[in-house]
Amino acid sequence: MRIIVTRKLPDAVEQELVSKYGARLNADDHQFTRDELSAAMREADIVLCTLTDDLSRATIDAAAGARVRLLANFGVGFNHIDLAAARDAGIIVTNTPGVLTEDTADLTMLLILAIARRASEGERELRAGRWRGWRPTHLLGARVTGKTLGIVGFGRIGQAVASRAHHGFGMRVLYHSRHQADAAIEHRTGATSVGSLEALLHEADFVSLHCPATPETRHLINADTLREMQRHAFLVNTSRGDVVDEAALIAALDEGVIAGAALDVHEQEPVVNQNLIARESVVLLPHIGSATVESRVAMGRRAIANIEAFVENRELPDRLV
Ligand code: GLV
Repeated sequence: MRIIVTRKLPDAVEQELVSKYGARLNADDHQFTRDELSAAMREADIVLCTLTDDLSRATIDAAAGARVRLLANFGVGFNHIDLAAARDAGIIVTNTPGVLTEDTADLTMLLILAIARRASEGERELRAGRWRGWRPTHLLGARVTGKTLGIVGFGRIGQAVASRAHHGFGMRVLYHSRHQADAAIEHRTGATSVGSLEALLHEADFVSLHCPATPETRHLINADTLREMQRHAFLVNTSRGDVVDEAALIAALDEGVIAGAALDVHEQEPVVNQNLIARESVVLLPHIGSATVESRVAMGRRAIANIEAFVENRELPDRLV
């Protein structure tokens, strides 16, 4: 089996891929172009890809008749892969769910706290030598404890955020999702289902996005839905940039429609809108939701588990198509 890996992975994962399969690595960690991806699909039986790879129908079709049989994605989100095109080409696709849930939920709490308590603003001020010392009215933020959190999308990560917010911060947690969760999950996470997105947006002091990026969720947060939020509310996004219409978000911040936003994911990664960068009421991180050693090694091992099952002709644990 010939395996090509499209990005640099943690050492332990690369060592396992090389020792078990003689995988070809990406030593300089450059982002593959569409041509390189198509070439990799022609050369290898398995491509271990990730979210920076443009595996659109155009790329997959350009590799028509290719050798590749498995796209083992490193990551849970798969909006960069055209699953229908893969299915049409007879290519199996897998992802790495579950192993990054806790760390992504932790980062969501970090963003909720950072935007509410103006942490980035404070650090910028201090590092720039502008801090004039403690004073009663300096950098007043908003309390997090006891407030209402609205979770959009109630899969593993949404549920893990709910538990943290409810049990750790005494928050009232509402969620809106395509499917209502079991009573046991609602009980464990302390979250209550809300029938409509609008109702959730009306009530929440913090709105946190945890839905996958699909054609249906593209720009789910737009000029209209932003107007349903409260003026003092904050938007938090650790899902995918596509879920938020950034231009509408900027306009909403300009007009005081909402109080601020904390974003780990962006519409045009790695390009971040200058208008957001220039703004104090925004916290911006470079897509690091799952960026812990523990998660990234576990993601690699999960991708390898899928590869192993494929090689041994067993059922794949995380098959998408
Ligand atoms: C990261 O964003 C992932 O999809 O795993």
